[in-house]
Amino acid sequence: MKSVRKVRCLKGELRVPSDKSISHRAVILPALAEGESYVQEWLWSKDTLATLNIIRALGVKVRYKNGTLRIKGSNFELSEPQRVLDAKNSGTTARLMLGVLATQRFFAVLTGDQSLRRRPMLRVVEPLRRMRAHLDGREGGDKLPIAIRGGALKGISLFNKKASAQVKSCVLLAGLRAEGITEVYEPYLSRDHTERLLSAMGVKLISYDGKDGRVVKLEGGQTLKATEILCPADPSSAAFFTAGAVLLEGSEILLKDVLVNPTRDGFFRKLREMGAHVQYENLREISGEPVADVYVKYSGGLKAVDVHPEEVPSLIDEIPILAIVMAHAQGVSTVRGAGELRVKESDRIKAIVENLRRMGAKVEEYEDGFSIEGGTPLRGALIKTYGDHRIAMSFTIAGLTAEGETQIDEPECVAVSYPNFFQDLERLTC
Ligand code: S3P
Repeated sequence: MKSVRKVRCLKGELRVPSDKSISHRAVILPALAEGESYVQEWLWSKDTLATLNIIRALGVKVRYKNGTLRIKGSNFELSEPQRVLDAKNSGTTARLMLGVLATQRFFAVLTGDQSLRRRPMLRVVEPLRRMRAHLDGREGGDKLPIAIRGGALKGISLFNKKASAQVKSCVLLAGLRAEGITEVYEPYLSRDHTERLLSAMGVKLISYDGKDGRVVKLEGGQTLKATEILCPADPSSAAFFTAGAVLLEGSEILLKDVLVNPTRDGFFRKLREMGAHVQYENLREISGEPVADVYVKYSGGLKAVDVHPEEVPSLIDEIPILAIVMAHAQGVSTVRGAGELRVKESDRIKAIVENLRRMGAKVEEYEDGFSIEGGTPLRGALIKTYGDHRIAMSFTIAGLTAEGETQIDEPECVAVSYPNFFQDLERLTC
């Protein structure tokens, strides 16, 4: 249990830990390449360690020296793991690694923690079966543990109607060793880190706006070349401090080296639409990704906003913290088309609605989102995190703005993406 109380403001400079999505890919793709890759500023967290441990269990040599991960690529010659592979709490690990395992002729079993074993996997199992990999698991293959034997794949064309980067990445990774063309369509562009890194590693990718949305295509049999990657700071982690600074009078912070890829920075854009002072400084490109220092100041008189379905992919992981900002804005804010939140690390719609109500906010729940009538001052409450890191961090920030004491029930779950969250928050608190 962690106790949180109202603070005056947030002040200072902070480089939040590196991007989780990029850090997963920064070990998975180099593990498949020819030659040795070097990764700097890699994120050490529970989720990304799950990926690293699986990569090692598949025979890939990874060393860590002087702040650099050195990954000896296998050029797709992985070895059969002797134990069950454990993706722990990480959906990205499970789904991307199933795509990798599908390229291999050996037998492997993948599992995860209690939360991950409840999350849907058919979205990757079905396309991989269509590519001719053999997969079996609980509930017809929808739930982990899943057993897989791959090899001799055939390219497919997939319409990815939920615009999921995990599904897209899984199928593209399998497509690298499939016969012919593999293509993925999505109604809106989901995060494109896999495509950016594949291109940087010499893979020829074709992506364009098709009539049903975005298309990305590749031809099987291409080799990945080793590369150097510098991981930028995670906008999803930066979002918590950004919200805190916007809401607490007198705050002023600078968040360094933040990834501002347009498929990821929807939260910052939404805050600006609400009238918040969030500014990108020193915009530059690092390892093929746009990066900026984000300057944030207290912003009074925030206006309510709506999040529309097509905007959801660019801020999907920030919706819990956006909900906290919405609770402080004047008017009714809504989020729709975000049903995916129900199958994240927890049912995030339920967790947001339930915990905000406990804090006294006026919230309505929908199957695919919620609406919040902002402006009622929040009061401290007991927060049920459901073991979900983003719920824990979002409601810690809510607690900083509330009267009385807020208690967070499983604060240690922040280690999934941000092991030093509470220490960093303490440092910025004035
Ligand atoms: C991720 C993709 C998103 C996101 C998750 C990380 C990724 O999920 O919510 O936290 O690294 O590819 P979906 O692909 O299911 O939308």
